[in-house]
Amino acid sequence: MSAPDSVLDLVPVLPVVLVDDLTTAVPIARALVDGGLPAIELTLRTPVALDAIRAIAAEVPEIALGAGTVVTPAQASAAVAAGAGFLVSPGCTPSLLAAMRDTGLAFLPGTSTVSEVMGVLEAGLTEMKFFPAEAAGGAPYLRSVAGPLPQARFCPTGGITPTSAPRYLALPNVGCVGGSWLTPPDAVAARDWERISKLAAEAAALG
Ligand code: 3PG
Repeated sequence: MSAPDSVLDLVPVLPVVLVDDLTTAVPIARALVDGGLPAIELTLRTPVALDAIRAIAAEVPEIALGAGTVVTPAQASAAVAAGAGFLVSPGCTPSLLAAMRDTGLAFLPGTSTVSEVMGVLEAGLTEMKFFPAEAAGGAPYLRSVAGPLPQARFCPTGGITPTSAPRYLALPNVGCVGGSWLTPPDAVAARDWERISKLAAEAAALG
């Protein structure tokens, strides 16, 4: 898939995926697509993460492929070179914001306070991640932020479950939620791609 203009409007639930074993990357991506979630945020938290992005970009071109846990400018460049089509960060520093903007890709800087949201808006962006969503105030917090800052739109992530996701998705300032529940470690270890497709289908139906 070519790089999206907006990350928030791709899918109702953005799968946040950690890949430890490179051989699981492509089957996970295919299982998500098969279940009806053609998007993935592959976190740069393991030694094989960039190789996983390369593999998915080559083998599953129909998926919107994002790199997550981008916390340094160098990671932003490396993710783009590997084939990422969008970028997600849990936070936002001035140098990281500049580096992500320089890639020309859509990206979600991370925010968890009103001042951080205002900083991102000042930089000319209206789409951002809200992290860690449940620990930082959850859906009631975002509902409160919509009062003074209605132009800010969020992908809340962190501690969200299939049960709590609808509470976020009902808010006017939420485009999608992120979550790692689509790829339970035991399902990945068992190479149970059908279970991942089923979880993806259930999540897609929340939209
Ligand atoms: C993230 O990086 O967005 C979070 O680690 C995902 O949070 P979760 O595992 O609680 O869904």
